[in-house]
Amino acid sequence: MGSKVLLVGMGAREHAIAWKLRQSPRVDEIFIAPGNAGTAMVGTNLPVQPKDIDGLVKAAKAHGVDFYLATMDDPQPLGLVDRLTAEGILCYGPTQAAARLESSKEWSKAFMVRHGIRTAAARAFSNYREACAYVESLNDAPCVVKGSGLAAGKGVIVCNGTRDALEALDIAMVRRDFGSAGDTVLVEQRLYGWETSCHAFCDGKTAVMMPFSSDYKRAQDGDKGLNTGGVGVYSPSKLVTADMVEQTRREVVERTMQGMIEEGAPFNGTLYHGLMVSADRTYVIEFNARFGDPETQALMMRLETDLFEVCHAAAQQRLHEIDVRWRTDAAVGVVLCSAGYPATYKLGYVIRGLDAVDPDVQVFHAGTKDDDRGVVTNGGRVLTVVATGPTVEAARAKAYDNVHRIEFTDAYYRKDIALV
Ligand code: AMP
Ligand code: GLY
Repeated sequence: MGSKVLLVGMGAREHAIAWKLRQSPRVDEIFIAPGNAGTAMVGTNLPVQPKDIDGLVKAAKAHGVDFYLATMDDPQPLGLVDRLTAEGILCYGPTQAAARLESSKEWSKAFMVRHGIRTAAARAFSNYREACAYVESLNDAPCVVKGSGLAAGKGVIVCNGTRDALEALDIAMVRRDFGSAGDTVLVEQRLYGWETSCHAFCDGKTAVMMPFSSDYKRAQDGDKGLNTGGVGVYSPSKLVTADMVEQTRREVVERTMQGMIEEGAPFNGTLYHGLMVSADRTYVIEFNARFGDPETQALMMRLETDLFEVCHAAAQQRLHEIDVRWRTDAAVGVVLCSAGYPATYKLGYVIRGLDAVDPDVQVFHAGTKDDDRGVVTNGGRVLTVVATGPTVEAARAKAYDNVHRIEFTDAYYRKDIALV
């Protein structure tokens, strides 16, 4: 008998994971809480929200779930893995203690320092006046002000000097625009370089790195406009060299795995290292204790091995037994958004052309739902269209060719994904 798997989330990331799991002969049923119109095509949506831990545990038991695969950030810091494990459900995902790598930037910064993992120097403050005094002492040096807690990707302000930094502290600690994520802030040295994402499957002792990928965080072409959750992706990253991969393995990934063992919180699940490459050295900008969105949409198209086999083995500390293979083809994903995202936008427009896409191109749903008119828009990020090809350029051309076949009122997307 096959497995009954639970996913929590409602993004194109969850649709991509569910799509990949669907191809496994070892998976019987996939439940997605709460899911979207795309996940409903490959599994069963459950009306439970990601932070409703009691509701998720209850639903998992009611549906006979035997495997939880963590994809999004919300449930783990609230202890979902700990709770499901106590119920005898196997989990691929970090415990509440291990999820601190993402849920507390203050803790993860101190962790990196303790274990010699290269990162920007930083100081943590919970007192506004002390933070201001520190910023004044930096002599106008560029810095970054970050809320320590989870802030849905919005709690970071990059500053050019003292004036910017004082304003950022005011936003985070006085106006409290990041909510409780700003109870403690980090003031961090600003690094210059280019960014790339390195995901790894982890089983508590072994880590298997995925190919590097690059996401596009700004809303508009040329990296202009507001920061978003991510509006485009490609993999493999063009500038990453074999040396950089090796350096990252030795000096970041392995030290992190070993460090978490020493701290008594071995890391199981997907660890996503947000890296900045500066003068050929990789620095950790942040850890995410989950899959990235939209990186996952590209990675799932490139993964050759059965995803269930990989994650199930990792959950049982058997990752070393699995040969994780990737296609050499590149993948490019373009996110179709509702115009106005990430600020204000309208919902409820009918999406047309979904069946006009090529059979080897995938359209992963995020903000969509079914109503009596068909599939309609229901969020800021609506769809990720992912194509593969022998080169990034070929995959890019194919992705945009297919994006042009999909229509809805207010559709907006960047035209320069995988170009720069
Ligand atoms: P984070 O949420 O920590 O990934 O930060 C969001 C974005 O802010 C990153 O993707 C970077 O573009 C930028 N950022 C964060 N920390 C730094 C830093 N120390 N130096 C320069 N840019 C940074
Ligand atoms: N792609 C950015 C994130 O998932 O946090």
